[in-house]
Amino acid sequence: MKKIVILISGVGSNMRALLEARLPCTIAAVISNRADAEGLRTAQQHGIATAVVSHQDFSDRESFDASLAQTIDGYRPDFVVLAGFMRILTPDFVNRYVGKLVNIHPSLLPAYTGMHTHARVLQDGVKIHGCTVHFVTADLDHGPIIIQAAIPVLPGDTEHTLAARLLDQEHRVYPQAIRWLCQDQIELDHHGHVNLRFPKQVGYALISPGLE
Ligand code: GRF
Repeated sequence: MKKIVILISGVGSNMRALLEARLPCTIAAVISNRADAEGLRTAQQHGIATAVVSHQDFSDRESFDASLAQTIDGYRPDFVVLAGFMRILTPDFVNRYVGKLVNIHPSLLPAYTGMHTHARVLQDGVKIHGCTVHFVTADLDHGPIIIQAAIPVLPGDTEHTLAARLLDQEHRVYPQAIRWLCQDQIELDHHGHVNLRFPKQVGYALISPGLE
């Protein structure tokens, strides 16, 4: 059975979705860069080992990332799963886990990389928003895309309502992506694109606002 380690910084609702999804893998540990991350308590309630590597204890990103990598490697994971982990990782760290490091980002990448995606989507008047699970590369919020979910932006949406509706979909697609990874159902082709060994495509459109 494959082993994963989950990295968080805060609430950890995606982490919780992963813990509750009965994934075909061992969740070896949840690691946070903040001792006060709410998700650490959730993990402990689920009987999962936790660890804290505080970025405040290090003078630069390189030494923090080296210590984080050492803690991660102690669990010998097959995959390292970023679930609301709010630190930018150095190329050295990312390159150490090529093909093993995955992230969820609250936008339809490659649109809206970086922070405050919901606010920027609203500001731009975009009609469809979404989230993306992707392999992490040294290029921030890029990297081969595993799965995406799209949602309509509704009239009257605020940053808060949009984030909450998107989070519901994040909680569906992240466990699916990790399940595929742990079951070896994901292939990276020579273009650097992710293919599923057994694709199930539905092929319908999300149109927003809806047609009459
Ligand atoms: C999510 O929106 C995720 O896409 C982003 O950070 C947020 C984490 O939320 N990377 P949570 O800690 O999983 O509740």
